[in-house]
Amino acid sequence: MVVEQTLSLIKPDGVARGLVGEVIGRFERAGLKLKAMKMLHLTKQQAQKFYEVHQEKKFFDSLTDFMSSGPIVAMILEGQGAILKNRELMGDTDYQKAAPGTIRADFARDIEANIVHGSDAPDTAEKEINFFFNELERI
Ligand code: PPS
Repeated sequence: MVVEQTLSLIKPDGVARGLVGEVIGRFERAGLKLKAMKMLHLTKQQAQKFYEVHQEKKFFDSLTDFMSSGPIVAMILEGQGAILKNRELMGDTDYQKAAPGTIRADFARDIEANIVHGSDAPDTAEKEINFFFNELERI
């Protein structure tokens, strides 16, 4: 399996509920390596840019309000098959469909406040990593 990097976000609900250590611990125990990390608070405009692929969806305004409502943690995770592995650890976007033991099954409360975001493919991973991290911040 090829070594990949993926972008992971701990969303405002995950930070507010004190789940940062729990989420990062799950990534590390699963063999994903932290290659970069920062805490930041997106503006509404920055959230709209990050989620621009969803701009026609009816939930776009609510999602970008939520994602700019408080601090988040952005990380680059690296490992063999990291994109899929991260998404398996996260569980389904809809926490009610997420497999037991996944982050969203254990902690999410609705489809918006679902604790984490993870890139879904190599091209989006590269785009999303570049959105949050410049060259100097990447190891
Ligand atoms: S889609 O329509 O399949 O492309 O969307 P999906 O990948 O399931 O979700 C994309 C992100 O939008 C969030 N989402 C929502 N937010 C608010 N309300 C509703 N109804 C809703 N549906 C989906 C979802 O949490 C995804 O966030 P990310 O950060 O990409 O995981």
